[in-house]
Amino acid sequence: MTISKNPKKIQELFDVIAEKYDFNNNIISLGLHKTIKFLSLKNLEIKNGAKILDECTGTGDITGLIKKINLDVEITGIDFSRNMLAGAKNKFPSVTFIQADCTNLPFDNETFDIITMTFGLRNIEDYNKALQETFRVLKSGGEFLHLDFGEKNFFSKIFDTLVPPLIKLFYGKNLPYAYLLESKKEFPTPDKLIEIFKSHGFKLKCRKDFLFGIISSQIMQKP
Ligand SMILES: C[S@@+](CC[C@H](N)C(=O)[O-])C[C@H]1O[C@@H](n2cnc3c(N)ncnc32)[C@H](O)[C@@H]1O
Repeated sequence: MTISKNPKKIQELFDVIAEKYDFNNNIISLGLHKTIKFLSLKNLEIKNGAKILDECTGTGDITGLIKKINLDVEITGIDFSRNMLAGAKNKFPSVTFIQADCTNLPFDNETFDIITMTFGLRNIEDYNKALQETFRVLKSGGEFLHLDFGEKNFFSKIFDTLVPPLIKLFYGKNLPYAYLLESKKEFPTPDKLIEIFKSHGFKLKCRKDFLFGIISSQIMQKP
């Protein structure tokens, strides 16, 4: 099955699931997603006064976690789903959130010291355009953290088997989450992703895997 990542459809999908997004994330990750996000951020060099962009911010988890690590940063979250952003604004009123598309970032070249994108790129039809834009607005010497599902191994197959019944149990219907599993299947493995990032000019700083490789983070630098 080839899934549609038409931006309008993706935006609608997240607008629909926004209200239950955090709750469902806790269920399907068995409460671990925040810890994994936090640990992946620990590999970034977050200096005082840093200008940070969280792309595909959703309900803003990453912005909140970065503020926990260093309060003295200027952080902006962007997403194209109005309902996901409403959740983010509610949770983190002190953060700036902007409704925008990652394939057309409303920022000047070399604006940010750090850019993060967690569980986002997989949903973007033209992900090369999003990476081009990320590279453009990142300062030279800056870091880009990417985090998402990783290896397609024995453990990820267990995850894929457990998600639908868990979601059905707590959510009532599993329709939007069929998309999650399909998008996971099509998404490049971490090795392949690193090659794609390099083709946009990034250099690999480090890669860190979590939960037997089911989740993987890569920190890329702009030379
Ligand atoms: C799975 S959620 C991830 C949210 C958050 N980063 C997290 O880790 O929980 C993916 C988010 O990406 C957003 N998104 C997908 N494509 C986008 C695009 N082209 N521009 C902006 N946001 C996009 C969706 O609206 C959604 O909120």
